[in-house]
Amino acid sequence: MRLTLSRAALASTMLAATLGASLLLATSAGAATTLGASAAQTGRYFGTAVSAGKLGDSTYVSILDREFTMVTPENEMKWDATEPNRNQFTYTGGDRILNQAVSTGKRVRGHALLWHQQQPGWAQSLSGSDLRQAAINHVTQVATHYKGKIYAWDVVNEAFADGGSGGRRDSNLQRTGNDWIEAAFRAARAADPGAKLCYNDYNTDGVNAKSTGIYNMVRDFKARGVPIDCVGFQSHLSNSAPSDYQANLQRFADLGVEVQITELDISGSNQANAYAAVTRACLAVARCAGITVWGIRDTDSWRTGENPLLFDGNGNKKAAYTSVLDALNAGGTTTTPTTPTTTPTTPTTPAGNGCTSSVSLNSWNGGFVATIRVTAGSSALSGWTVTTTLPSGAAVTNGWNATNTGTSGSVAWSNVSYNGSVAAGQYTEFGFQGTGGADGITSTCAAR
Ligand code: G3I
Repeated sequence: MRLTLSRAALASTMLAATLGASLLLATSAGAATTLGASAAQTGRYFGTAVSAGKLGDSTYVSILDREFTMVTPENEMKWDATEPNRNQFTYTGGDRILNQAVSTGKRVRGHALLWHQQQPGWAQSLSGSDLRQAAINHVTQVATHYKGKIYAWDVVNEAFADGGSGGRRDSNLQRTGNDWIEAAFRAARAADPGAKLCYNDYNTDGVNAKSTGIYNMVRDFKARGVPIDCVGFQSHLSNSAPSDYQANLQRFADLGVEVQITELDISGSNQANAYAAVTRACLAVARCAGITVWGIRDTDSWRTGENPLLFDGNGNKKAAYTSVLDALNAGGTTTTPTTPTTTPTTPTTPAGNGCTSSVSLNSWNGGFVATIRVTAGSSALSGWTVTTTLPSGAAVTNGWNATNTGTSGSVAWSNVSYNGSVAAGQYTEFGFQGTGGADGITSTCAAR
């Protein structure tokens, strides 16, 4: 009898202990009470677009600081905001958002280095190689200003056409040559090797011609070693997400890139369910790193009158908020974010003339892309020339971040206006594409 009582006591003690443990789990890990904390349980972030002009609004800032762990400047890092006049850069709005985010423990997605919209007037009137150089200079300068501070950059935004073509959108940037996107990604990597580099677009929420065009570009970039780490799915939705939303994310993830939901907002009466479905889809894809909503309160949204966000105009949580929070707390796969990888390089040429150079080659049958890294010696460079010697049969078709003399045999490459200055021990990169086989290519560097 005594033994029986002891067993009963032991059992009830164990039950209480188990219940206690479950209750503890439920409050500490299973039911976090903010979007950011809930997303963090599976290693993800939960972000919002932020407008610098609203950082004086106490309701806005209190929700921002309580709920979100990632921030995207809504307009302040775009081309018209950061380079209103050619080569005159202004970072006031972008810096303000970045500093507020960093000082409150949040990270920042940079948005967007190149886009056919929100270009300053001076860029809209350029074309051809002048525009190409201005665009690459813009990427280099802005990514350099924010070097080490950005989680991921939308390097190129909305470059694919809507409709069934699956091809590129016509724009002044596209008319500089089809390689403008890869040139932008290479310049961004050279400027800030630690930032993840994303391609970002809309109407890509299911498997369709547009998303497949982007998928093919990403697959090609990965095959040729063009630096790309992530794809952003804006997800401006009405009433629901496509039924293959998760499958579409997964096929991109399977290419080895991170996927991110970058500008989520959803209108319509099915809003709460649709938000939950998008959240569950991200949680089910291990390489889905996080979700960003495009504004905080309905009154902050660019979709005036559609009320597509998680908080009403007074800052109250909506049903959509609760459904996202519940979906996050239900858990999912733990995310496995990608790390930006720098291009592997061949051994550097002997030090001499103040700089060294190294060649990284991506070749295919009949063509190649060469990336040349120029590294300053113990003194800073104020200008440089790299001479590449191409094997017989190889010829340069186009280059970026340097100007060339000659296209075959011995080709001399000189810095352009924005990358001649290289601090002691630091490097810059330029590149070129060519036909033929470039195995055996060599390079030598000289300071000017
Ligand atoms: O700041 C000026 C203000 O001084 C002026 O009085 C007013 C007059 O129109 O304009 C204000 O600038 C506006 C700016 O938003 C800030 O409110 C611009 O006109 C307006 O065009 C701009 O719209 C932005 C839009 O991108 C530009 O295309 C939206 O805020 C922004 O939410 C939206 O974001 C885009 C993403 O970058 C890319 N994906 C689509 C998404 C929605 O369009």
